Amino acid sequence: MPPTPPDPSSGEQLPVRTAAVWAALDPLVAAGTPLRVLDVGGGSGGFAVPLARLGHEVTVVDPSADALATLERRARTAGVGGRVRGLQGDGDQLHELPLDEGHDEGYDLGLCHAVLEVVDDPATTLGEITRALRPGGRVSVVTANRAGAVLTRALGGHPKEALALLEDRDPVPARTRPARRRFTPADLLALVEGAGLRAGEWRGVAVVADLLDTASGADPAAVRRLELALAGTSPYRDVAAGLHVLASRP
Ligand SMILES: C[S@@+](CC[C@H](N)C(=O)[O-])C[C@H]1O[C@@H](n2cnc3c(N)ncnc32)[C@H](O)[C@@H]1O
Repeated sequence: MPPTPPDPSSGEQLPVRTAAVWAALDPLVAAGTPLRVLDVGGGSGGFAVPLARLGHEVTVVDPSADALATLERRARTAGVGGRVRGLQGDGDQLHELPLDEGHDEGYDLGLCHAVLEVVDDPATTLGEITRALRPGGRVSVVTANRAGAVLTRALGGHPKEALALLEDRDPVPARTRPARRRFTPADLLALVEGAGLRAGEWRGVAVVADLLDTASGADPAAVRRLELALAGTSPYRDVAAGLHVLASRP
């Protein structure tokens, strides 16, 4: 029996926190046309596997061998191992990878979800993804939202760290690893447009999902509907945990 595809818009099998991202992707990925998708920093396949279940061919680029091994296992278990390819590599250096595999026309859809926070240079990464798309191709970008991070730190009882984040300083300067970047909506749109992409409207990701007590007993379907309603509405979207924009290559 063929695997049952997930329904990205109602998404029983998909996390509520990414409901707004799936809703934005829905017109592209649920249209019935198989797409070539490039998921940069796709990790263990939280997006790649559901997309492959919808019939799309997904190439995941990630530097983590562990994440790629998990991806392969998840894809095989879901019965879509033939539609998911993992490539070990860096988003800053996509041009060094065998992305084309007999296709010259470029990818239909790029994903860059929760990756610009950690790459060496977000502008380079987004430029590399843009060049891998076909003209008219789309890219979905998710980043951490600085305002959401400030509130999360403050509500977690860390006012000094919250203030540091607000002032764009490292909240934990003593550690050796560089701090994860956080973005304002203006930062995100400037990056996307700087890469030569046309940005759609930005939305908030996980406006309330991360704030909800797991023991609240709230109906997940109702939380999902609320997330979708808040994602495009200020002031709620302004304090979401993440930001999302869908952009196109002219
Ligand atoms: C927070 S996870 C996001 C995973 C997935 N995109 C998602 O939204 O569920 C960040 C991922 O970026 C990967 N990563 C870290 N540095 C990277 C780089 N320079 N280029 C591409 N991916 C990178 C990590 O290995 C990890 O899988």
